[in-house]
Amino acid sequence: MNKFEVTSLSEYILRNQMKIPQSRGGFSHLLHHVSTAARIVNREVNKAGLVDILGEMGSTNIQGEDQKKLDIFANEHFIDAIRGCGEVCAIASEENESFIFFEDEMGRNGKYVFLMDPLDGSSNIDVNVSIGTIFSIYRRVTPVGEKATMEDFLQPGTAQLAAGYVLYGSSTMLVYTTGNGVNGFTLDPSIGEFCLSHRKIKTPEDGKLYSINEGNYKKFPKGVKKYIKYCQERDEETNRPYSSRYIGSLVADFHRNLLKGGIFIYPETETAPNGKLRLLYECNPIAFLAEQAGGSASNGEKRIMEIKPTSLHERTPFYTGSKNMVRKVDAFLEEFDLKSDKKFNSRCASVK
Ligand code: AHG
Ligand code: MN
Ligand code: MN
Repeated sequence: MNKFEVTSLSEYILRNQMKIPQSRGGFSHLLHHVSTAARIVNREVNKAGLVDILGEMGSTNIQGEDQKKLDIFANEHFIDAIRGCGEVCAIASEENESFIFFEDEMGRNGKYVFLMDPLDGSSNIDVNVSIGTIFSIYRRVTPVGEKATMEDFLQPGTAQLAAGYVLYGSSTMLVYTTGNGVNGFTLDPSIGEFCLSHRKIKTPEDGKLYSINEGNYKKFPKGVKKYIKYCQERDEETNRPYSSRYIGSLVADFHRNLLKGGIFIYPETETAPNGKLRLLYECNPIAFLAEQAGGSASNGEKRIMEIKPTSLHERTPFYTGSKNMVRKVDAFLEEFDLKSDKKFNSRCASVK
């Protein structure tokens, strides 16, 4: 490799497309549009504070959460960019109650469906802390040309063709997988290109970081409480105590743990027995990346990507990161559930 050789995302996508002789480039085209939308959102995130993009929109989304101006901005720009590429027949977003159909003037549509959390970590927008965008791509199961249906979206995570995130942090990165490892691209703002910076990311099997909102401690199942205490115990052999790190933006917390080794937990709680995070556009894409980097992701009982979804915005408890850490917390959950939590008190008496 030439000393100054830089591989841009565009070049990388093209090279991979050329390896598939029958490819007509539709998927590559879609990835280019993801990158364009990411750069547009990045531009606005970087200007936040200078222009009128901070603060509440005065509306709530389907989950009843307050929408910020940047949530809406990111949502609209990603929708437009994905519609514009013509390869996608419908898009689902955290910010929209149902999915949106796409077709051109001739009534033609594409063979992929796209799901996203356009702006993850909303509570960190106004305070200049890292936020992200998460996306997931599937091949539709209904015939091209027809209208997409819910069936196209309710596929298990194992059927994902690609998944990734954009992290708007101290630098902006696009990290994605198409099922052949995970690669990270850092935006070089001077040339406006994402450049390959993290090739074939592998996450350590054992980490030293645990990430959880401990303010909810009293509401956690016993297995999670026990695991937190385990992380805090002294033990030279396993390098404990581990360090606690929690930003409150899934993308940023996951990204740090991916590179350094660690576990991210958003468990079920007494008041939210299904957890907080959304299966289809938060947990499944992150789980795909985790597994592709040699880590794992579970809901405490089974592999996240094997869950058969039943609705667009469903939530799930989420445990992801270094393989041995996820295995450990899963074992504690099982042990304490059998003793007393009994399927977390029968899903907290079905939310009382
Ligand atoms: P979003 O901003 O897309 O609604 O997601 C917020 C999520 C996720 O990014 C983060 O891990 C979690 O909410 C933080 O929740 P707590 O404030 O309850 O810890
Ligand atoms: Mn989110
Ligand atoms: Mn969001």
